[in-house]
Amino acid sequence: MENEKLLVCVVLSNEFLKSQYNNIMKKLLIIAALLVVFTTACAQGNKTKENKEMKTLVAYFSATGTTEKIAKKLANVTGADLYQIIPEERYTDEDLDWRNKKSRSSVEMMDKSSRPAFIKDLKNAQSYDVIYIGFPIWWYTAPTIINTFLDTYDFSGKTVIFFATSGSSGIDGADKQFQKQYPNINWKPGKILNGATEDDIKEWIENL
Ligand SMILES: Cc1cc2nc3c(=O)[nH]c(=O)nc-3n(C[C@H](O)[C@H](O)[C@H](O)COP(=O)(O)O)c2cc1C
Repeated sequence: MENEKLLVCVVLSNEFLKSQYNNIMKKLLIIAALLVVFTTACAQGNKTKENKEMKTLVAYFSATGTTEKIAKKLANVTGADLYQIIPEERYTDEDLDWRNKKSRSSVEMMDKSSRPAFIKDLKNAQSYDVIYIGFPIWWYTAPTIINTFLDTYDFSGKTVIFFATSGSSGIDGADKQFQKQYPNINWKPGKILNGATEDDIKEWIENL
């Protein structure tokens, strides 16, 4: 009889311990799940905040309108402000004649220190974190008016990304030259966007 009582006691206390253990495990699982939900929500919140705070500019120079079309699409896709770099003295067809060594564009591009003037009316240049700069490829690189633009507004520490249109040349020449000339800028690899659609542009910037 005593033995039976003892057995009942052992069984009961075993059951009690089991139920206590299950309760604690349940509570721990709930706490772990809450922690996961909380950290995911915080990370998401920070991401949204970062994106909201990043101010983007699309600045472009276009002599005959090809780069301008791409710049407008890029501004549309990124929701960026759009700024046209307008030369004080517009380029005529004669100026753009690359076959003529004495044409304005040939003379400027042969002199790496040339800085063609542009109408300097960009407001709050320093407020931008990311600046896309577009241009036509001239003599395998960027027209020197892009140097004038970068000399005018100090984008040290900002992210700058080139985009361009061209007959067939790539953008690496421009990227390399400007990375050397403006080492304090945080450069990201540029891209030739000949005939790019908004979807092409979206894919490019998502993978930058
Ligand atoms: C002076 C000059 C030089 C050029 N040099 C090149 C070149 O080196 N490589 C190339 O592929 N295209 C070259 N092109 C072609 C332009 O890059 C191309 O037509 C561009 O899309 C024009 O853009 P825009 O209409 O925005 O000015 C040159 C055009 C000009 C006017």
